[in-house]
Amino acid sequence: MKHALIVGASGDIGIETAKQLAAQGWSLYLHYNQQNEKITELITKLHAKYPKQDFLSFSFDMSTATNLDKFLENIFELDTIIFAQGTTTYKLLVQTTKEEIQHLWSMQVAVPIEIIKALQEKLAKSTHGRIIFVGSVYGAVGSAMEVSYSMVKGAQTAFANAYAKEVASLGITVNVVAPGAVDTHMNQFLAKNERQAITDDIPTGKFATPADIAFWIVQLTNQDAGYMTGQTIYVDGGWLK
Ligand SMILES: NC(=O)c1ccc[n+]([C@@H]2O[C@H](COP(=O)([O-])OP(=O)(O)OC[C@H]3O[C@@H](n4cnc5c(N)ncnc54)[C@H](OP(=O)(O)O)[C@@H]3O)[C@@H](O)[C@H]2O)c1
Repeated sequence: MKHALIVGASGDIGIETAKQLAAQGWSLYLHYNQQNEKITELITKLHAKYPKQDFLSFSFDMSTATNLDKFLENIFELDTIIFAQGTTTYKLLVQTTKEEIQHLWSMQVAVPIEIIKALQEKLAKSTHGRIIFVGSVYGAVGSAMEVSYSMVKGAQTAFANAYAKEVASLGITVNVVAPGAVDTHMNQFLAKNERQAITDDIPTGKFATPADIAFWIVQLTNQDAGYMTGQTIYVDGGWLK
């Protein structure tokens, strides 16, 4: 049986990815930060539908690497890591504090890299190891008011470019699925007119659903997807990239 760790499994894209992988027979390590109730509900549903698979949950605040070792103790067999956690700050750079920038960097770049370093050996044993970041189109084109967020998303792409070369011989692929605008909790702060303005700019005429993004994440986990590595795949309805 194949095993995936979904970091940020309590988020909208994480939940949908978990559902699609479970439907393909995967056992899952489901990480969350605060939303215990969402993970409990997800696990109850997955256990009922797929009683022979394992679904385990773990909480870990990735704003620091404190307690990382304790989190990693829970991971045994592993074929895939998906980083679907993430937050943004919506303000001018000059109004963004050092702590806010550090927070985004820690949870989306620095701590994921420490997780990968610790689990590389397990992924190598799989012979078809997969690492997938959920990045953002802003990592390529940048966004005013989200400079720090754009920076960390660009860093995820740069990391995947380089690290993919280092671990290709171990059978591990490293890629980024970079959405445009997705209909999730993360975009709830948008006013109706702001949301409409974005929708008007998207050639496909709508925000992505979490399932639209999970679909591409799941494709990359396939054993037959081993020749695709070091790439960032933009899933943005033709919006910005
Ligand atoms: N929505 C979009 O339009 C969009 C566009 C481009 C890229 N993305 C990217 O897609 C990914 C998933 O976002 P989403 O839209 O599914 O957002 P979401 O529903 O708000 O989910 C965010 C996830 O991040 C986790 N998280 C928050 N703070 C954390 C911390 N300190 N430590 C560890 N985990 C933490 C949350 O855990 P808890 O809920 O348990 O606290 C949750 O699982 C993110 O990387 C985001 O940048 C989203």
